[in-house]
Amino acid sequence: MQDMDRIVEEARAVFAATDDPDALEQAKARYLGKSGRITELLKGLGALPPEQKRTAGAVINQAKAMVEAALAERREAIKQTELSARLAEEALDVTLPGRGEAQGGLHPVTRTLERIERLFASIGFAVADGPEIETDFYNFTALNTPADHPARSMHDTFYLLDERGSLAQGVLLRTHTSPIQARYMQAHVAKYAGQESMPEIRIIAPGRVYRVDSDATHSPMFHQVEGLWVGENVSFADLKGVIADFLRRFFETDDLEVRFRPSFFPFTEPSAEIDVAFMRETQKGRWLEIAGCGMVHPNVLTHAGIDPEKYTGFAFGFGPDRLAMLRYGVNDLRLFFEGDLRFLRQFV
Ligand code: PHE
Repeated sequence: MQDMDRIVEEARAVFAATDDPDALEQAKARYLGKSGRITELLKGLGALPPEQKRTAGAVINQAKAMVEAALAERREAIKQTELSARLAEEALDVTLPGRGEAQGGLHPVTRTLERIERLFASIGFAVADGPEIETDFYNFTALNTPADHPARSMHDTFYLLDERGSLAQGVLLRTHTSPIQARYMQAHVAKYAGQESMPEIRIIAPGRVYRVDSDATHSPMFHQVEGLWVGENVSFADLKGVIADFLRRFFETDDLEVRFRPSFFPFTEPSAEIDVAFMRETQKGRWLEIAGCGMVHPNVLTHAGIDPEKYTGFAFGFGPDRLAMLRYGVNDLRLFFEGDLRFLRQFV
């Protein structure tokens, strides 16, 4: 039965040399499989006389048990090795510093627009909207600026090209938010068509506008906030009161002078430019232009289908980027649009 010891030794050595589960199962078959060495020996027992059969059987079965034990042990060892390898591979270094979460924030111009909307909402102004790609009609004609009107050259306009690369007929990037006035009045009139009178219009319209212009105080894209109040007996005095009150609340100071300087816009008559000066501060005495305004021109009302004999109104157009510069003490408009996080983070 030395044979048996040798078989067991050999099996142990073969198992130990295997570190792959499939190879191990194949090695097992060589001893315990259907025609494995030990299986064959057990089959051979039948040919032995009863005396020898019992002793030989006991020896072979003992050897079989030892091979099975060696097999089970090796299987377990291989499983453990694989597990440790996987753990090592998937290990997380919990000592690495975390990535943290970036803190987002609203852009200073967005903050300013929201502030303006809030202040005007408190005196009953709704917020209106309009397209940035506008037609020549709404941007100019409906605003009393027909083709060939010299005032068209006040705005350095971006015109759009069609698919063939030629100038798209009458399509442009709006140069101001005033076309929203024309659109809103037209829609308002349509909504109350056939009625004795229409409710007042009281809106502001913030948005992006575009002009061919770029320096420290001009960017080819900038913002405006249009305002429009149309009703019965709306006067220039109302305009002055609304604007002066808004500016004091916007800048949170009464030490603010507001000046209405006569000017010209085709869509308002009379027209004015609005300047502000802060009395107590370093900029004392320095007037800054921040808006255009005026009484809505009768032709503009007529264009929209509103009777200028019955209704009057005022309009204004603010430069909220300028307001933001003043409020936050920023001296270069382009900083707002360059997307430099070091600058923008200061407002969060
Ligand atoms: N739309 C004018 C501009 O961009 C400003 C303005 C608006 C003037 C409304 C009067 C009334 O210059």
